[in-house]
Amino acid sequence: MNGYFVTFEGGEGAGKSSILANAASILSDKGYDVLTTREPGGIEIAEKIRQVILDKAHTSMDARTEALLYAAARRQHLTEKVLPALDEGKIVLCDRFIDSSLAYQGYARGIGMDDVFRINQFAIEDAFPDMTLFFDIEPSKGLARIAANENRERNRLDLENVRFHEQVYEAYHMLATQSPERIRIIDADQPIEQVKVDAVRELLTGLRTNTEEGEQ
Ligand code: TYD
Repeated sequence: MNGYFVTFEGGEGAGKSSILANAASILSDKGYDVLTTREPGGIEIAEKIRQVILDKAHTSMDARTEALLYAAARRQHLTEKVLPALDEGKIVLCDRFIDSSLAYQGYARGIGMDDVFRINQFAIEDAFPDMTLFFDIEPSKGLARIAANENRERNRLDLENVRFHEQVYEAYHMLATQSPERIRIIDADQPIEQVKVDAVRELLTGLRTNTEEGEQ
């Protein structure tokens, strides 16, 4: 694995997806070989698992079932798409990964972050991200952005109450405190153009450090 693995994390309406697309195009322009993806990433098996998870009709889904399904989808996407790209030396920018499960299932759903970490560790083995960008915006503001965007489809998790999203937010901060080396906090409560600039700056710093470490 000689590429560079970056994950984008945050609550609803943090703007992750468009920031990720923008970062990818800037890095490509600079000559980097970039793969952008998001779980389930167009991997057929993972897509099918995801449909089961997010189906609005599945209101009876048990929290641990949900966590296991996310971990299963994650494993398939990782082995079919992410690891092969990293082996080819690519920079992989992935919208959501293990921290989403820790925050949403582990903390907000109340299963416990340690248990969710264990099943995810089984799923990803040692494929932890080299860097994680956490887009920090208070849930009430993020949710207001989503509400303003009529084109965005609501899924089962979007429909959770504000308290749930506040817990997700709290969990991301706890994770960032636990792993300050890996998780960088980006202030997402700024004009989107500024958030994009900040994200690219972090990425370039991480890539530079990675190259320097590789050369030593
Ligand atoms: P998606 O439509 O991809 O949302 P977003 O644009 O916010 O990334 O839906 C993903 C939803 O699934 C989102 O509400 C977060 C949630 N999720 C988890 O609860 N656990 C996970 O491990 C992952 C990857 C996502």
